[in-house]
Amino acid sequence: MQTTHLGNSDLKVSKICLGTMTFGEQNTEAEAHSQLDYALERGINFIDTAEMYPVMPRAETQGKTEQYIGSWLKKSGKRRDIILATKVAGPARGMQWIRQGQNDLNAANIRAAVDASLKRLQTDYIDLYQLHWPSRNAPIFGQKQFDPALERPHTAIAETLSVLDELVKAGKIRAIGVSNETSWGVSEFIHQAEKLQAPRIASIQNAYHLMNRAFEQGLDETCFRDNVGLLAYSPLAFGQLTGKYADDLNAHGRLTLFPPSWSPRYTRPLVLETAKRYADLARANGLTPTQLALAWCYSRWFVASTIIGATSLKQLKENIDAYEVKLSDELIAGIEKIHAESHNPAQ
Ligand SMILES: NC(=O)c1ccc[n+]([C@@H]2O[C@H](COP(=O)([O-])OP(=O)(O)OC[C@H]3O[C@@H](n4cnc5c(N)ncnc54)[C@H](OP(=O)(O)O)[C@@H]3O)[C@@H](O)[C@H]2O)c1
Repeated sequence: MQTTHLGNSDLKVSKICLGTMTFGEQNTEAEAHSQLDYALERGINFIDTAEMYPVMPRAETQGKTEQYIGSWLKKSGKRRDIILATKVAGPARGMQWIRQGQNDLNAANIRAAVDASLKRLQTDYIDLYQLHWPSRNAPIFGQKQFDPALERPHTAIAETLSVLDELVKAGKIRAIGVSNETSWGVSEFIHQAEKLQAPRIASIQNAYHLMNRAFEQGLDETCFRDNVGLLAYSPLAFGQLTGKYADDLNAHGRLTLFPPSWSPRYTRPLVLETAKRYADLARANGLTPTQLALAWCYSRWFVASTIIGATSLKQLKENIDAYEVKLSDELIAGIEKIHAESHNPAQ
């Protein structure tokens, strides 16, 4: 497995990152540990989690994902072998169980969130600490355009960066990243970091897959010039790009287990239609739809690491094996044709 340096940080991460948001909901602790063992056997050293996980988010389960990673770290003794990334939740009035729904990216909340994550993870440092979504109004999670009417009070980026600086100096975190960010956000974080001599973001964790290539509309140039690595999440569009829902609308998986209201951007009719087109293209070229979708992310120049997710070892194996798949020019032309005709339906 190849590795890469994340932005200007000294974190050397594998090109595939293991996502864990199924641990504690769709996966048991034992299954979580098996996935972690298997990922490491296959050369993955990069693990992504969040204080909010597992999904779908619930008061009863919040924190379980980090706890399962923590119990695995304690059992395996592999802390020094991995690059561990977690996230602090942004404002989420609906999640009363995270700091009474008063969450924001202010100093007191971030200090409390880091300490709680360290405890659950049974470690004394986090390699990459990410802001799960911005404090300010920004178009995220399926909102396609910026809407000034949604402006609200928020924590200034300077305050967030100052507390992250304090945490780096205290040795609790090594590097920082943003998630669900825009071009303006990335530039502003870099600008403020330079002004305050605070830590510089090493990464941006955004959705990126065949049916949401919004990153290519400006963020690609911003991140290239500012040396910020993309951690591409949901590379299979919540399972849609495996083709299983195109084959059978009632297929077992996240999209039939959880209410559609939780993930509307992945259940739009155009998403299903487009997923079928990519699945047909893959099969016509001797690939599985999963191989096509993951090979696309694995081979983009701007993707530092692709965060994969799985609910079984069989899925995990297929997803890691897809790293060996090379897409021909002809196949890429086929992808671009579908993209031109069905542009980012899951954005
Ligand atoms: N920053 C953020 O806001 C954010 C948001 C989302 C995700 N993430 C991160 O990214 C990671 C991955 O995201 P994701 O889980 O949404 O990725 P994804 O690749 O879009 O979906 C993964 C899911 O698809 C299904 N699947 C995976 N491989 C399969 C295969 N070979 N055959 C059939 N089905 C397969 C599994 O679910 P079923 O078995 O249930 O179908 C699996 O859990 C997360 O764990 C998390 O770390 C971050």
